[in-house]
Amino acid sequence: MTDSISTLETLLGDRHSCRAYKTEQVPRAIIDRILNAAQKTASWCNSQPWQVTITSGEATKKFRDVLYPVAAAGTPNSGDFPFPREYRGVYLDRRRESGFQLYNTLGIARGDKTAYAEQALQNFNFFGAPHVAIITSDEALGVYGAVDCGGYVNNFMLAAQALGLATVPQAALAFHAAVVRKHFGMSDDRRVVCGISFGYPDREHKVNSYRTSRAGLGDVATFVE
Ligand SMILES: Cc1cc2nc3c(=O)[nH]c(=O)nc-3n(C[C@H](O)[C@H](O)[C@H](O)COP(=O)(O)O)c2cc1C
Repeated sequence: MTDSISTLETLLGDRHSCRAYKTEQVPRAIIDRILNAAQKTASWCNSQPWQVTITSGEATKKFRDVLYPVAAAGTPNSGDFPFPREYRGVYLDRRRESGFQLYNTLGIARGDKTAYAEQALQNFNFFGAPHVAIITSDEALGVYGAVDCGGYVNNFMLAAQALGLATVPQAALAFHAAVVRKHFGMSDDRRVVCGISFGYPDREHKVNSYRTSRAGLGDVATFVE
């Protein structure tokens, strides 16, 4: 029991969003192991709404070659799920803090909007990851289908972490949902929740050197006795 929680705490503590990768491909058996673990995710009525499309090798490059120009051209976001209406209060503070951590680590000056935009575009290079997983849900399941997919994304990331891989979940890859659907021949009723770029981490790259903070329990938990 104690060992299980220690293992989980280690995985949760070590996982972070990785934004620089080695080019080495992940063997199919390892990817299958991640997917088999993530299949254990709970979902409402056990509907298991997630479908996952995974690119490797040339397929990752081809996807990049389709998506990157769309983003680089400044095409307005048209994701299947509404973009957050507003980051306010502590949510804005946390968003800013994590953004500045990224920019400071990369030596990007505060207010350098051109550099911010260039860095944001790296999403569409998948931060150099050799693989991308696109997670979709069924249109009819609405918000709860997306909630179930969120659980799947986390379990995918923890399984990958346990296997020595690194990941970054990316809502950015859902910004141009119609392009994603068309490229992969997905049916119209699939809703693009997000992507996960993954592979072996480049631990030497400075972008992977910082860790984000978390609020304390006093900020999130209410105990009623
Ligand atoms: C649903 C979701 C979408 C995200 N989208 C992006 C994204 O588009 N680009 C990106 O660089 N990071 C993205 N992230 C990563 C978050 O910025 C990151 O999880 C957060 O700052 C906490 O840092 P950590 O993952 O290193 O613990 C996303 C995370 C989640 C859970």
